[in-house]
Amino acid sequence: MLKINKNFLNLSQKYLFDEIKHKVQKFKKANPEVPLLNLGIGDVVLPICQASVEASKKACTEMGDPRNFKGYGPSSGYDFLKSKICENYLKRGEKIRNKLLQINKGIPVEIDKNEVFIGDGSKTDICNILDLFAQDNICLIPNPVYPVYIDSNIMRNSQIIYANSTEKNNFLPMPSDKKADIIYICSPNNPTGAAYSRDQLKAWVDYALEQNSIILYDSAYEAYIRDDNIPHSIFEIENSKKCAIEFRSFSKNAGFTGMRCSYVIIPNELKFENIKLLDFWTRRQSTKYNGTCYIVQRAAEAALSDDGLIETENFLNTYKQNSDLILDIFSKNDITFFGGKNSPYIWFKYTNLNKNSWDLFDLFLQKTGIITTPGSGFGECGENFLRISTFFVNNNIDFFLKKILTFNTP
Ligand code: MLT
Repeated sequence: MLKINKNFLNLSQKYLFDEIKHKVQKFKKANPEVPLLNLGIGDVVLPICQASVEASKKACTEMGDPRNFKGYGPSSGYDFLKSKICENYLKRGEKIRNKLLQINKGIPVEIDKNEVFIGDGSKTDICNILDLFAQDNICLIPNPVYPVYIDSNIMRNSQIIYANSTEKNNFLPMPSDKKADIIYICSPNNPTGAAYSRDQLKAWVDYALEQNSIILYDSAYEAYIRDDNIPHSIFEIENSKKCAIEFRSFSKNAGFTGMRCSYVIIPNELKFENIKLLDFWTRRQSTKYNGTCYIVQRAAEAALSDDGLIETENFLNTYKQNSDLILDIFSKNDITFFGGKNSPYIWFKYTNLNKNSWDLFDLFLQKTGIITTPGSGFGECGENFLRISTFFVNNNIDFFLKKILTFNTP
């Protein structure tokens, strides 16, 4: 008789953002006249850059031409995109075409083409990577955290221990004497917006090396870093190539949430039990993945061209200005907040209201029309907090900001 994977019964009934969607639909039905601003799910609103549009059109034309048509591509991605990614890691810190704008901030990092694996989104990559590890490893996961890390581990019944992320540690938990084999780090963090400094990240690398464990480093929001002492890549930290895998995507920096393109960096030096993880991942991908769409890979390559980077920097600036606008309002009105400075997420609470996150979510929606994400949806240490994203265009923002200002008044 067939046995199903009953671990699914241990998941919450709905994925966090589906639960929110459901609540918002209900609200809209009951209040069709109320204008809404969606600062819930971290989905970009500005379009992909023109360089990517042109490159994908050209790639599409190639696919319709018998001389240039391509069937299955390499499961780990095309060399043209891998080379561009390596160039981008190395070019960090350079000014593009002498523009005053210093786009590629950070320390140059040398990555070899064979260490780059193109995927269709960090969410997929970060779930699939678990195929490489035995099931009885102990996973150390921050709390609160991007729910995908937890759900994917619940689905395989992993042993999970938590690194509590609270106001006391500025939402940046540090290594303790807890033993762990797989360590999840997301910096800048989703949901809190907090980001590890170089020294703090070095402490995690030292801990992983000492324990012979691995760090799964989610760097999806690195393009939002503004402080110089915050590393853009874990590979800026000495010896990290012996203990870390980095996950990056084009979603939040180049507007690819709908296009789907990501990459995983698995260093050649990364070995456990004398086996190169890169070989296992190559083997896994060749069986389970046929490669990211050629057209999308061409669009991603273009997003990393000089023109692409200059254009996407402009849209990143729009989100950063949005962030500044909200942080300014929050500071002037004594709202306790974290994040926003190096991240598109602002994490805040109304201390005086003494409400749990879901009640606060409902009340905020009713009184302001702003869709947020309840902090407890990311884990119990997120209780009492709300998260908002800064992915919006400024059309009617004054209207909503005024609502925030009066939210707390009876
Ligand atoms: C979020 O809102 O946390 C993100 O959109 C999730 C994601 O990137 O998948």
